[in-house]
Amino acid sequence: MSNFAYIVGVGHFVPDKILTNQDLEQMVDTSDEWITTRTGIKKRHVVQDETCSDLALKASQQALQQAKMDPAELTHIILATFTPDAYVPNGSTVLQTKLGLNQIPCFDINAACTGFLYALELARNICLVNPKAQVLVVASEVLTSRVNFQDRSTCVLFGDAAGAVIVSGQKRENSFQITDVCLKADGSLGPLLSVIGGGSSHPPRLGLSIDEKYFVQMQGQEVFKHAVRSMASICEEILSKNNLSSQDINLFIPHQANIRIIEALAKKLKLPLSNVYVNVQDYGNTSAASIPLAFSEAYQKGKISSGDKVLLVAFGGGFTWGASVLDFIE
Ligand code: ACO
Repeated sequence: MSNFAYIVGVGHFVPDKILTNQDLEQMVDTSDEWITTRTGIKKRHVVQDETCSDLALKASQQALQQAKMDPAELTHIILATFTPDAYVPNGSTVLQTKLGLNQIPCFDINAACTGFLYALELARNICLVNPKAQVLVVASEVLTSRVNFQDRSTCVLFGDAAGAVIVSGQKRENSFQITDVCLKADGSLGPLLSVIGGGSSHPPRLGLSIDEKYFVQMQGQEVFKHAVRSMASICEEILSKNNLSSQDINLFIPHQANIRIIEALAKKLKLPLSNVYVNVQDYGNTSAASIPLAFSEAYQKGKISSGDKVLLVAFGGGFTWGASVLDFIE
């Protein structure tokens, strides 16, 4: 059994259509000033007729291209999402067909905004058991399909996007060693952030119209407090487990939900803001896609150099949260 798995390709995709704060001012009783000061978000990308698998396909193709790999070399597909094209078939099998593949195992995982890190940990373990594995991990969300555009307290927060990585058992040039991943969950806090409608606790019935439970419901201030506390504590845990301090981290990529959460977290961890990657202003909260979108964008912008240590952290519905330390090897 090998000691490490590696990220050998990264990619991302956002739909073309942009919804600005000024656009939202025309839709609900809000203002650019409120959204900017409370969240840091200025705009978000939203689908027109694209689906979760369409966004996932584009991000996956970019990751494959960056890894100089043919789709046929993939051994598994894991899709992190809570907004798949359909309940059945699952989103990863739809993506498999769009990639022109068949036979390889494919599955979806739902850990809300932490979905990418959960999928990364599964892929890492597949590669540790089978070093010949080459796993496509893609996180894709069409959050706007589950947002009520009449509810100003949620509709200003979210956007649509996808991010992808290829996880391999074999080290290559320009790869990220997945040094560690830590995951946590606390189901007792689940009701603070939920999308219940359509599930078996609130099933659709012929003739009945949908209600607000079909859309994201969130107790914002409670989620805010838990997000800061849980992400800070899991970062401290993973750093200490790997004999690291926050000073050893060259780039910190936190879940992009709210600039105030990111700043509070950086302060708690004593990380200078110059080492924190922030793109929430351009995309809003894209749930599971948030981390791989920011990671891929930072990599493409040349923000990660040889020998750098990258710390990823996410928090989302469930509640779920997780962190990962990556080492970039040129
Ligand atoms: N425009 C104008 N006013 C608004 C808006 C809006 N878009 N939304 C709410 N308000 C009003 C409220 O009605 C309230 O008015 P009132 O005082 O008259 O009652 C006032 O603004 C304050 O509302 P709060 O909810 O207290 O605002 P807060 O400062 O907490 O900010 C926010 C809300 C941005 C949602 C914040 O709580 C937050 O970011 N929470 C964390 C969200 C998060 O991180 N989620 C991550 C996981 S998401 C996932 O897993 C899918």
